[in-house]
Amino acid sequence: MKKEKVKIELPDLKKARLRRNIAVETIHYETKDEFKGMGIGRTYHIFTYGCQGNEAASEQLAGILESVGYTHAKDPYDADVVLLNTCAIRENAEQRIWGVLGQLKSRKIAHPDMIIGIVGCMPQEENATKKLEESYRFVDIVLGTHNQHHLLDLISKAHKLNQRVFEVLSTEGNILEGAPVKREYKHKAWVNIMFGCDEFCTYCIVPYTRGRERSRAKDDILAEIRGLVKDGYQEVTLLGQNVDAYGKDLGPDYTFGDLLYDIDKTGIKRVRFTSSHPRDLDTKTMLAMRDCKSVMPHLHLASQSGNNEVLKRMNRKYTKELFMEKINELRSYVPDVSITTDLIVAFPGETEEQFKDTLTFVSEAKFEGAYTFIYSPREGTPAATWPNPLTEEEKHDRLNRLMEIVNEGYLNGHKRFLDQDVNVLVDGESKNGNGMLMGYTEHNKVCHFKSDDLSLVGKIVKVHVTEVKSWFMIGELKNEE
Ligand code: SAM
Ligand code: SF4
Ligand code: F3S
Repeated sequence: MKKEKVKIELPDLKKARLRRNIAVETIHYETKDEFKGMGIGRTYHIFTYGCQGNEAASEQLAGILESVGYTHAKDPYDADVVLLNTCAIRENAEQRIWGVLGQLKSRKIAHPDMIIGIVGCMPQEENATKKLEESYRFVDIVLGTHNQHHLLDLISKAHKLNQRVFEVLSTEGNILEGAPVKREYKHKAWVNIMFGCDEFCTYCIVPYTRGRERSRAKDDILAEIRGLVKDGYQEVTLLGQNVDAYGKDLGPDYTFGDLLYDIDKTGIKRVRFTSSHPRDLDTKTMLAMRDCKSVMPHLHLASQSGNNEVLKRMNRKYTKELFMEKINELRSYVPDVSITTDLIVAFPGETEEQFKDTLTFVSEAKFEGAYTFIYSPREGTPAATWPNPLTEEEKHDRLNRLMEIVNEGYLNGHKRFLDQDVNVLVDGESKNGNGMLMGYTEHNKVCHFKSDDLSLVGKIVKVHVTEVKSWFMIGELKNEE
């Protein structure tokens, strides 16, 4: 039977740009009585794309589903509910999603009862949602980033009424507290400290898909972390698009640095955070990195370019010199800190000379790793309308030249630990087996070591580094901490 679509609200990029001075709503999650047990005997599978924010969101979607009885299906093609938690950051992120949807179509034809849902950032784009509406008629539910807590309503409507349900809100966003979470690991956890972004870098879609910057109350964050400590968690990663702006929307008195000092007192062993913005990174945060034993000596600080003219056109609001000042200040407090970054090449109008400035800057900054991207136009953002005469070959050539320098940084970052002892939080078995376990060091380096003792998973162990490669280190297990 052909499904009807219930029209609720479709996204609007112009509305998504609005930043009004209105109070942020905090929603306390509750399971409606009518949904209790609705998933018993049914299964789900979630595909997750994009940033850590999306990984955290998927853990919440899984928690919501499991709270009413759904169980996880390893094989997506066996599941009764399949969700694609999508990313819109670059064209290729979206292409992957259209590809997976194509594969799911035949499964849906064979099993018409299966619910296919698109959630996350992609539905927040007008054109993506129109395409889903018109050309992907086997998609049952479409849900944006602001209304995850409506997941069960949408599934239930799609089922009971045999309708396609689209609900994508272009609001400035709310804060959801108390939703169930099914965490992937038992020893490390994502903790959202804020949502949204007000930076409006000219290339970036995130401020449109995630709404305005809004911080969770510190008491809610601290209570969540205390709960995690009680449950045996060793590490938290604090999440936000610009964690250094934490608290600015709540008042002038309590900053991200203050939050780090308070989290240190909860007894959690390791604290990481991402992402930092160079303009907002302040001395208090750097001092917290020095003073708090739990705050790990690693900073991911996106630079994007090493040329001031390009940075200006990106609307990054700092210069290369300010960026260098900030990392030098941090290094004066935490001399062995490892710094990684994000870089974009072939931004509209970037000249060869401006690109070479980025190469010089990357060497000078001594980054120990970087995510490198070719600029990808995002409809609705200012830069998408700017001319970009470079050919695909020229863009890839710039990316390759940049990656050569970045890769040297990765290797140098590992070499400094050769023949030294490092503390590794063990994640599990190494992917290629052979009796090795793997985990992350305090400086966020991947380290493998020989052991088949799975009881070490989730523990912090000492490893003596014996060999280093570009992407990982290898060592020998010494003893448990
Ligand atoms: N808020 C974070 C920050 O500014 O550090 C990062 C957000 S974004 C999820 C991760 C990275 O994607 C950015 O730092 C940027 O390098 C890259 N990015 C964002 N928009 C892009 C675009 N249109 N094309 C290519 N890369 C992009
Ligand atoms: Fe995007 Fe810039 Fe916000 Fe990062 S700071 S999410 S790059 S707009
Ligand atoms: Fe992608 Fe949305 Fe994150 S666009 S990078 S999933 S905020």
